[in-house]
Amino acid sequence: MLRALALQHLVWLSILFQLSLALPWHTNYALTVIKNVTQPQTFENIATRHNGQLLLTSTVSPKVYQVDPFRQRAMKAIVDIPHTAGLFGIAELEEDIFYVISANMTGVQGIPNSNFVWKFDVRDRRTERAPISPSIVANVSDAQLMNGMSRLAGNDTTSLLISDSQAGRIYKLDVSTGSHRTISDDDSLKSSPTGLQIGVNGIHVRGSHLFFTNFNKRIFGRIPISLSTGFPTGPVEVIVNGVQGDDFAVSADGKTAWIALNSQSTLLEVDISGKSARVVVESPYLESASSVSVGRTLFDRDSLYVSSAGPFNAVSGTNTTITGGIVARVDLPKVK
Ligand SMILES: *[C@@H]1O[C@H](CO)[C@@H](O)[C@H](O)[C@H]1NC(C)=O
Ligand SMILES: *[C@@H]1O[C@H](CO)[C@@H](O)[C@H](O)[C@H]1NC(C)=O
Ligand SMILES: *[C@@H]1O[C@H](CO)[C@@H](O)[C@H](O)[C@H]1NC(C)=O
Ligand SMILES: *[C@@H]1O[C@H](CO)[C@@H](O)[C@H](O)[C@H]1NC(C)=O
Ligand SMILES: *[C@@H]1O[C@H](CO)[C@@H](O)[C@H](O)[C@H]1NC(C)=O
Repeated sequence: MLRALALQHLVWLSILFQLSLALPWHTNYALTVIKNVTQPQTFENIATRHNGQLLLTSTVSPKVYQVDPFRQRAMKAIVDIPHTAGLFGIAELEEDIFYVISANMTGVQGIPNSNFVWKFDVRDRRTERAPISPSIVANVSDAQLMNGMSRLAGNDTTSLLISDSQAGRIYKLDVSTGSHRTISDDDSLKSSPTGLQIGVNGIHVRGSHLFFTNFNKRIFGRIPISLSTGFPTGPVEVIVNGVQGDDFAVSADGKTAWIALNSQSTLLEVDISGKSARVVVESPYLESASSVSVGRTLFDRDSLYVSSAGPFNAVSGTNTTITGGIVARVDLPKVK
């Protein structure tokens, strides 16, 4: 959600400089562009369906797009969300039943009364061409800018956790009633007075920890939580500092995270227990890398998918041919 702001050359160079001091500079996992479209101009978040198809949102489009990584067919818009300029986090609670955040923004500020959560059921599609009708789950009128979303627990089909990047809070939403409450308002989720005002960004629960990025404070951290209430059961733990991360994925075993470093053309790999991070892909196609998902089929369980926009020419510090939305696959080395 940074495309409009984050490309200022000086900002970019200073980020690059600070990162290269903090982290070793490597590019060692193969990247393949699997989708490259002029519209929408950027992608924001990804969910992976059980059959391997990817569902993508964009901050500059009200549609949910489907991309099939195994077929070269055209991307399809499968859901059109009403009364919004853009979509953010997307999460699945039951097989093929997805929830998506809609919000309007100017710059990185949310527009009041524009934050909603919608539900759509991919099984509702009678034919491949028929659009799916979304239903409204919640009008979150006290939210400022809802952004990342995660289910609370694998055994819970009604609770979603949602980050508010502007307020610096995490909400728990009950999708059966539409009601929400704040489960954390910790200082580590907020922005400092300077820099781009995007605090807590991506959030994902793995085991009994809620992992998060704070873009402004350059933190990747975790909070132990109750899997029944969502409330913290202990203090926030910083895993790595100096990481200006957007959304991310955590491996099923909870040992590794891959973070999209938006505006830094970079995918970062974090060794969670080792509390260390390294750059694994640096590519102009990841100029606006915004989220990461892990393949769910036998054929791509060692692959990551990254949503972005690009390409930005990192060498000259300028735009080359702007292709718009990018979906890239990154292949992890096979464990021998
Ligand atoms: C992106 O699409 C354009 C237009 O179809 C094409 O010329 C270009 O080679 C593509 N780039 C990649 C990396 O797929
Ligand atoms: C959000 O944007 C949509 C599309 O432009 C518009 O219809 C809607 O009224 C906007 N909502 C608010 C609260 O400004
Ligand atoms: C959402 O709730 C706010 C506050 O109650 C209200 O002003 C607004 O009209 C509602 N929006 C919609 C689309 O229902
Ligand atoms: C899911 O399991 C956890 C324990 O692992 C439990 O605390 C929680 O209440 C369960 N949630 C539901 C909805 O059953
Ligand atoms: C790159 O292109 C975008 C969209 O046209 C523009 O907003 C941005 O300022 C450009 N960035 C640079 C560094 O030229």
